[in-house]
Amino acid sequence: MANAGLAIVVGQPGALARSRATRPVTRTEDQVSNRNPQLEGPDLTTGVELETLSDETILAGHVGNEAVLLIRRDNEVVAIGATCTHYGGPLAKGLLVDGTVRCPWHHACFDLRSGEPLRAPALDPLPRWRVEVSNGIAVVREKLPRHTPSLRLLESAPQSILIVGGGAAANAAAETLRRESYGGPITMLSADGALPCDRPNLSKDYLAGKAPEEWTVLRSADFYEHHGIDVELNARVTVRGTPATSAIPRRTIVHSTPTVRVSSLRSTAW
Ligand SMILES: Cc1cc2nc3c(=O)[nH]c(=O)nc-3n(C[C@H](O)[C@H](O)[C@H](O)COP(=O)(O)OP(=O)(O)OC[C@H]3O[C@@H](n4cnc5c(N)ncnc54)[C@H](O)[C@@H]3O)c2cc1C
Ligand code: FES
Repeated sequence: MANAGLAIVVGQPGALARSRATRPVTRTEDQVSNRNPQLEGPDLTTGVELETLSDETILAGHVGNEAVLLIRRDNEVVAIGATCTHYGGPLAKGLLVDGTVRCPWHHACFDLRSGEPLRAPALDPLPRWRVEVSNGIAVVREKLPRHTPSLRLLESAPQSILIVGGGAAANAAAETLRRESYGGPITMLSADGALPCDRPNLSKDYLAGKAPEEWTVLRSADFYEHHGIDVELNARVTVRGTPATSAIPRRTIVHSTPTVRVSSLRSTAW
């Protein structure tokens, strides 16, 4: 066998930190819907002249009651959801970079062709529509089904993967493995007593009482079961008597003064 039987991934606290902005709290696909009561731009099902679409620019429009972006890249035209699946950021105001669109709010990154999220903090893909181009007119047709990877276990891949940690980074690692077709067993060992959660929310809308507790969970227990990800809670890993991960906050520009006392929200994870 060409590989080690087990790969261990240690969650790096802080790896997913992006922005300090407070956003409306939404989480599931139902809650983060692409439906927008204030739709802008043209009805893309009636057709758009290709010559009005310049390369690498975004045309915001709609299909039925869903906000959709039409984007031309070289000889290809793609139609993709206009609302970020993280907290609903307006992707029409985002950036197009190398076949991806980047959300202006917390910089999630989606593949234009597949709609899949390539970078945190978004977890769910964007919806896509089929585009028909004929006689210089691009017409947006039906919504395309979500790509479902067929799981497999390549000889070059580890036979099983153990992820140490149960935060956003650990969750993203497990989901990405499945999205990229990894078919072996995945186990997440978390010292936490609860499933991976959206920690930035804890000091914002949740703390302010504006978000119910269930919205702070990144994924449900059913999700992990469905994707064959075994999440072991209250499972602290030690390596020769030393905890395996740490979470020491970095002190940068904010310091204590005689009138302002600065305390850490957390020091270490153990
Ligand atoms: C209250 C709060 C508010 C925040 N607000 C913001 C914000 O507004 N903007 C922003 O960018 N970031 C914010 N952050 C930071 C952001 O949440 C973190 O950067 C992010 O959660 C890091 O995710 P992570 O998965 O890397 O680490 P963590 O979420 O820290 O996860 C580490 C995981 O490892 C587990 N673990 C640790 N040691 C062991 C062990 N020995 N064995 C097994 N498991 C172990 C822990 O139990 C935990 O599950 C905030 C954090 C907090 C706590
Ligand atoms: S809304 Fe947060 S990354 Fe888009």
